[in-house]
Amino acid sequence: MIWNNISELENRNGTLYFDGCSTVKLAETFGTPLYVYSENRIRSNYRRLLEGYQKQYPRFKAYYAIKSNNNPAILQVLANAGAGADAACVNEILMAKAAGIPPEEILYSGVYNADADLRYAVENKVRLNLEDLSQLDRLEHIGIPKFLCFRINPGIGGSGQEGLVFAGPDAKFGIIERDIEKAYAKAKALGVEQFGIHMMTGSNILSVPYFEEIVEKLLDLAGPIGQKLGIRFDFIDIGGSLGVPYRPNEAELDVDAVAKAVVNTLRKKLAQYNMGEPLLLHEPGRYLVCDAGILLARVTSIKEGYKRFIGLDAGMHTLLRPALYDAYHHLLYASNLSASSDTPANVVGQVCENRDQLAKDRLLPSCIEVGGLFAVLNAGAYGFCMSSQYNSQPRAAEVLISNGKAELIRERETYQNLIQGTRVPDTLRAAL
Ligand code: LLP
Repeated sequence: MIWNNISELENRNGTLYFDGCSTVKLAETFGTPLYVYSENRIRSNYRRLLEGYQKQYPRFKAYYAIKSNNNPAILQVLANAGAGADAACVNEILMAKAAGIPPEEILYSGVYNADADLRYAVENKVRLNLEDLSQLDRLEHIGIPKFLCFRINPGIGGSGQEGLVFAGPDAKFGIIERDIEKAYAKAKALGVEQFGIHMMTGSNILSVPYFEEIVEKLLDLAGPIGQKLGIRFDFIDIGGSLGVPYRPNEAELDVDAVAKAVVNTLRKKLAQYNMGEPLLLHEPGRYLVCDAGILLARVTSIKEGYKRFIGLDAGMHTLLRPALYDAYHHLLYASNLSASSDTPANVVGQVCENRDQLAKDRLLPSCIEVGGLFAVLNAGAYGFCMSSQYNSQPRAAEVLISNGKAELIRERETYQNLIQGTRVPDTLRAAL
């Protein structure tokens, strides 16, 4: 095992294999930069989470957060496995429907929704998660759904990564505590019959007590409101947030322990407030797909400057997280895993921004050469979906390995994609 109990990553005679496929061959066949995903790993991540929770609380379901990786093939793997969907916008609702997820298992958690978004969700009977009282007022003119959920901001939030906090006073998300009761009272008065309650407080959390704490907080808000207004919650949705280790010294999140802690608290609170046995929902994105994806990139140039700079054909346009969050992604020199990592270097892309650095002062093999292949780990979540064409760089291709066979699931972009849809007005051409 070369990284974090991920059996799909193997060292075979010095070459990195991913889910049975040689990364060197994958790069030759499909080109670089290349996102590669393992269906096996996605499925086992999903199974581990589901079993961990269902052992404790059979009425558990996972809704996949499409925003973490919106490739339709990845979504299909999870839909086939039985996941529902967390959709951030109408396009993600369309994707979930295309994958065969029934509308009642799609929770639309758009933020700052426009009327058209709300109307689409209501007309298509997708479950709606509102994050502001004013949206309820607007629903009066659009149509009142039978089911409604509110995303609350419980005033606390956490993060395994700076910049990734989704609740608390500074967060733009959710209904503040003061307005929660008003929201449910109004929804009930308008004729809503079934209710859910939702929170999404942080992301990439590796601590078990955190989950216990947020569940306690959510139930302490939901319980009294339910009692006071005579509302029964059909589901309790605790959002995403389950973390994965990005750094070598970080420990894996024990999902069984999370499930145990969450369910203990949940059961205690459900009994305290006489809330019955609602469905418990998690909306994982990262936990399901992050370590199921790697990014392959080739060395394009090596500069011995004030530091050693290793240039790759992937950069911030391919994987934005290091530039945006200073996020750490582990790198493997996939074409020669046996070489010892003893030489510090910065690994950079080809974009004209100095933040375009995938790794800084990282110890890497000294034998790295132009044409050599790197694998960037934990690239399955918030990787391709946050990529761009900045600096006129076409986006990467994506490949899915299923049963040992690699298949293209998104074509590499070309120059044509960069200019597609653009127009140079005739008047400008005439000026030539
Ligand atoms: N549910 C809702 C309503 C969300 O907004 C999110 C993520 C999730 C679920 C899934 O959260 P997860 O299980 O992945 O923690 N771009 C950042 C992450 C942003 C997360 C946004 N919301 C990154 O690269 O780390």
